[in-house]
Amino acid sequence: MSETSTLLSVSDFSVTYDVDPPVQAVKRVSFDLDRGEILGLAGESGCGKTTLAYGIQRLLKAPAVITGGTALFHDADGETIDLGTLSVGQIRAFRWDKSSMVFQGAMNSLNPVMKIGKQLADVFSAHRPGMSRAERTAASAELLQIVGIDANRLKSYPHELSGGMRQRVMIAMALALKPQLMIMDEPTTALDVLVQREILEQISELRHQFGFSVIFITHDLPLLLEISDRIAVMRAGEIVELDTASNIYHHPTHPYTQKLLSSFPSLTGERGGFLRGEEKKA
Ligand SMILES: Nc1ncnc2c1ncn2[C@@H]1O[C@H](COP(=O)(O)OP(=O)(O)OP(=O)(O)O)[C@@H](O)[C@H]1O
Ligand SMILES: [Mg+2]
Repeated sequence: MSETSTLLSVSDFSVTYDVDPPVQAVKRVSFDLDRGEILGLAGESGCGKTTLAYGIQRLLKAPAVITGGTALFHDADGETIDLGTLSVGQIRAFRWDKSSMVFQGAMNSLNPVMKIGKQLADVFSAHRPGMSRAERTAASAELLQIVGIDANRLKSYPHELSGGMRQRVMIAMALALKPQLMIMDEPTTALDVLVQREILEQISELRHQFGFSVIFITHDLPLLLEISDRIAVMRAGEIVELDTASNIYHHPTHPYTQKLLSSFPSLTGERGGFLRGEEKKA
């Protein structure tokens, strides 16, 4: 086991889109992510959230260029992996296995002509070649149950599932190989509020069960306040404030954080009760 409780250390990480004129999408971003932590990443459209996530997962393609900084992944086995130096083959092994991603708009990225069971089993075929067909089916059924879907849905096509169920399937896929890090980019915005909450509560429980960390990206600051341990507020490529959800809510220090909080009318009324585990203040 690793000595440290830190899973990921990002420092001075910078990404530029090499277009004319160049766009400095991520500017010297630094943060640590603890094991088992949910870190919320908030900020307005275009501030660089997805670019940062793709940078960490080594998913960026031209014209994006990582222009500086490091992202170190402290593997549970004690090894430190410098994500910037991975070869294409190492990136493929790292992703899914150690770190997975639920993409923005992911629920529409399932293959419409392939049954759910086959799509889940394919993750195992690709990454766990030693597994038998029966083992893949059993593992796929177990995954569905973990995210709250009946195993008989393995035989369903995506269009036969609700949006919430499709989203759960994507999360099941991301969990398939028991990664230590899961980055979720606006995973639930297309869902109604109740379904969103249910899914997020489930993720919060699962991370205790499996011990993974989550970087959760969304515009929805009230939602982040409820589910995150800490929140990073991003603006124009920089993290302008990073603190516990409680401090971001009760004692925001950066003017932009204050502005962001005040842009959600539901947050500016009666204070209290928004934060997980916090009693509503009288
Ligand atoms: N392929 C690209 N080429 C040039 N610029 C890009 C490219 N992709 C993103 N950008 C720019 O990089 C900046 C950051 O974009 P990014 O998609 O990371 O923002 P975001 O915070 O995820 O936004 P949203 O909340 O809308 O998803 C924006 O100014 C965007 O226009
Ligand atoms: Mg984005």
